Amino acid sequence: MNRHCQYLSLVVMLLCSMTITADQKTQPADYYRSLWDSVHFSPTINSATNEQCLSCHQEIINRKVRAISPAGVKSESALAWYQTLTTYNGSQETFHRRHLVTLLAKKLMNMKCTTCHQGENPREEAVIPPDTANRHFTLRKSVNPEVCLMCHGAFPDYKRMGLPSHWNTARDAFQNNCLLCHNGVRTHRHQVNFLNPEAIEASGKENSDVCFGCHGGRQWYRISYPYPRHSWPGMARETPEWAKDRPTESNSRFQIKQRKISNK
Ligand code: HEC
Ligand code: HEC
Ligand code: HEC
Ligand code: HEC
Ligand code: HEC
Repeated sequence: MNRHCQYLSLVVMLLCSMTITADQKTQPADYYRSLWDSVHFSPTINSATNEQCLSCHQEIINRKVRAISPAGVKSESALAWYQTLTTYNGSQETFHRRHLVTLLAKKLMNMKCTTCHQGENPREEAVIPPDTANRHFTLRKSVNPEVCLMCHGAFPDYKRMGLPSHWNTARDAFQNNCLLCHNGVRTHRHQVNFLNPEAIEASGKENSDVCFGCHGGRQWYRISYPYPRHSWPGMARETPEWAKDRPTESNSRFQIKQRKISNK
């Protein structure tokens, strides 16, 4: 490269960097810069607010379900059984809206994008052959399904609850009321940054379908979540065999003291 050329490329680079700075002030950052924005990665993502994510992903909230499927089925006539329960409000909504903005979601929960999204690695292909040294490799968009299991697992083992059978068949004998027992048992509950514990207790008192909704009523899995077992007033000294390997505190990511540090 001769001298003139070098000089020219310097000018071009300078001009480019000037336009980028001008761009940043007036327009959203370009695609690749947004894709690789530190907000998608740990540690920045751990303290990201919904507003931050929505500044680029507003479509997540705005998007609507189709009124009619490509095959001609009207969405309003395609209800799943859980959508016929008293706890389900309004017409069909998208997955994201059902966790962030619908009536029930807003009342009972306080979910953030980062409750489910813990890091967005834009890589689309896993290492082939699989490399065990790289177990934390996540693919684009992946969300840990254990998060979902907390609210979409099976009803916990009824025998441990002292119930004669699954809630589906035992509920009538117990006045469809979880609080008959849970006013005194496992009373330290829901103290996590993605739930509204007071609202849950108030709604659960009126209608135990609210409780059942997250503990078997919207079951997408065959297993039940191994909940942490917080101590409660009046708890027996002996830990039952099944509970010996249970944590006694919520996942640290969800503990409320963390919210105070990380949220805004
Ligand atoms: C500066 C803008 C910007 C911000 C802020 C941002 N994103 Fe993104 N995000 C992007 C872009 C651009 C892509 C790539 C989209 C594509 O390729 O279709 C992306 C991709 C994603 C994807 C994968 C989508 C897909 O279709 O593969 C997820 C999930 C995601 N972002 C979640 C988040 C979350 C959660 C936050 C907040 C912690 C966030 N993003 C903040 C711009 C942003
Ligand atoms: C209840 C858990 C949950 C919450 C809360 C959540 N997401 Fe998602 N999100 C998911 C799942 C699951 C997917 C689909 C992943 C897949 O396709 O593999 C997804 C997909 C996405 C995508 C990819 C585009 C698409 O529609 O498939 C983007 C972008 C995204 N989420 C952004 C957000 C933002 C921004 C927020 C907060 C305003 C948010 N999400 C809150 C679970 C969640
Ligand atoms: C903190 C509890 C909680 C977590 C965690 C959670 N959900 Fe949900 N989910 C709910 C509640 C409550 C509703 C019902 C909301 C309503 O009716 O407005 C729901 C509704 C749904 C629906 C039905 C949407 C519809 O319109 O019929 C699907 C599907 C779903 N969740 C999947 C998931 C997946 C996948 C995850 C994990 C990425 C997840 N959920 C995590 C509580 C949760
Ligand atoms: C007959 C009394 C009784 C009724 C009714 C009852 N439970 Fe329980 N439940 C228990 C007992 C006892 C335990 C276990 C206590 C322990 O940890 O030693 C338990 C444990 C649980 C657990 C924790 C499970 C785990 O694996 O850690 C959840 C969640 C739960 N119950 C939800 C409910 C819901 C929701 C309802 C109503 C739909 C309900 N229970 C009705 C007595 C009851
Ligand atoms: C919006 C979803 C949701 C609703 C509604 C809900 N729960 Fe839960 N419940 C959860 C989640 C998530 C956890 C685990 C929280 C954690 O990790 O500490 C949990 C934990 C529990 C536990 C274990 C407590 C412990 O930490 O030892 C019991 C018992 C329980 N719930 C009973 C109930 C009862 C009774 C009701 C109704 C009054 C109810 N739940 C309503 C989502 C829900």
